[in-house]
Amino acid sequence: MFKILSRREMAQGTVVENVIEAPQIAKKAKPGQFVILRVNETGERIPLTMANTDPERGTITLIYQIVGKTTSLMKTLQVGDAFMDIAGPLGKPTHIDNIGTVVCIGGGTGVAVLHPITRGFKEMGNKVIGIIGARNKELLIMEDEMKAASTEFEVCTDDGSCGYHGFGTDLLKKRLESEKVDLVVGIGPVPMMKFVCSVTKQYDVPTLVSLNAIMVDGTGMCGCCRVSVGGDTKFACVDGPEFDGHKVDFDGLSQRLAGYMAEEKVSMDRFTA
Ligand code: FES
Repeated sequence: MFKILSRREMAQGTVVENVIEAPQIAKKAKPGQFVILRVNETGERIPLTMANTDPERGTITLIYQIVGKTTSLMKTLQVGDAFMDIAGPLGKPTHIDNIGTVVCIGGGTGVAVLHPITRGFKEMGNKVIGIIGARNKELLIMEDEMKAASTEFEVCTDDGSCGYHGFGTDLLKKRLESEKVDLVVGIGPVPMMKFVCSVTKQYDVPTLVSLNAIMVDGTGMCGCCRVSVGGDTKFACVDGPEFDGHKVDFDGLSQRLAGYMAEEKVSMDRFTA
């Protein structure tokens, strides 16, 4: 069992942060890797990328958005409660090197995934430009953490309630026009990552994205997480979760993510009944 040591609600209760006792995972995990958890014996298995790890304390931090039955159930767990199982670390860590200037752009709970990667690139001596965005000020998460992890930092909101009034891709475009950028890391909802990649392609800047495919085993056996990358079938769990964003078939990924919407609705209706 994996005990919850602390719990925090963010973004008006639509996002929850859990710090969880998981010493073996904390010892081995690197930025970009994920875990697969089950709340209880009959629970579905969901992948979540770690937002932080503390090997000395033996903890991992997971940040998740309430989107369906499992995350709604997870939201009911309090400090002292436990997840039945957490498997990990899984997936390939982010390849972090000293390459020059890196833009790390995140949206939604993708910011939580982006945070350790941003910090890693800065610690490696890169100039790191952090950009995060949300629909409005209340929905922004990890603003202070991302600011501390970046060399330069910008915030934007769709309604202008905090920072730049507009999309993160506008800020990204300005950066790409005004300075040499060696890598962009874009993590967030699929449409956002697709948009980031369409911008960086125009400027021919390599772009990494982290894919949130549906997963079951997380070890390359079931094929559930397959994505098309450069025309080849890849498994997000073992070949990723990060890929060259210019080669990812985002429309195919969106279709697969929506493949169980009817079942998810039935499950949610039963949970709330
Ligand atoms: Fe089964 Fe990736 S989750 S192959």
